[in-house]
Amino acid sequence: MCSTQLDLFSSDSQDNGKELNVKEKEAEKVTNSSENNVVLKPIKKSKDKPIAELTIEDKKIIDIELQIKEKETLNDQERNNYLNQVKEIASSCVKCVLSETRTKVVFSAGNPDSLIMLIGEGPGENEDKTGIPFVGRAGQLLDKILESAKISRENDLYIANVVKCRPPANRTPFEDEIDACSIYLKKQLELTNASIILLTGATAMKAILNSTSPISKVRGQWFEWNGKWVMPVFHPSYLLRNPSKEVGSPKWLMWQDIKKVKQKLDEIKG
Ligand code: URA
Repeated sequence: MCSTQLDLFSSDSQDNGKELNVKEKEAEKVTNSSENNVVLKPIKKSKDKPIAELTIEDKKIIDIELQIKEKETLNDQERNNYLNQVKEIASSCVKCVLSETRTKVVFSAGNPDSLIMLIGEGPGENEDKTGIPFVGRAGQLLDKILESAKISRENDLYIANVVKCRPPANRTPFEDEIDACSIYLKKQLELTNASIILLTGATAMKAILNSTSPISKVRGQWFEWNGKWVMPVFHPSYLLRNPSKEVGSPKWLMWQDIKKVKQKLDEIKG
């Protein structure tokens, strides 16, 4: 396993999140994963905001954090209760400009008790209309990929996005939007049960691993993050633009990756 201490939500996100447009900045050498020899950029801690800059939503989340701190452990019901409270706060969030153009906040789908959490970039048009992540064309392809590996979207997966509101014209979310929304994703990661985190595409990878390495270089590799297994994979939208199933093609590589995920899931389930 990788010994890198990976951290969440650095504020230096510049990535445009689309696999075709990724600026292939050379990642600085930090450490090697003994499993896969992948190197990641160093992590910068996001700065704590002065109290005066906290939004109402931030304060409500801090209040939940304080309640959680007072408890020694959380049982599943308490965990899910807190997660619902976080969802409730997000559902009326106005922390960033995306709230001005959204139809619905897209918080999550699937099973919060599942072992896999899949993180996408942000809602598209269909997700914005329905309030459910990954229900458009990319979502339908994701469903097929999961089905082919016998991974149940409903039972084995909890799905979330880096930003919960649709960026206009499906543009890549800006850094300040990602930062504003990070309190929700952070809580989703803390309050769900997943031991496997799948990062679909560059924006999710940047948000969690703070890596600008091209997805094509790191996809399919396991990283350790906060005691969880993290794997970057191609975004389904990228696969829609690259439909070939030839050996070595992105779709074929995704198939190899999803088989590894299923294997890990089975190992963890025992
Ligand atoms: N793409 C994403 O990244 N997330 C969605 O929910 C839908 C499409």
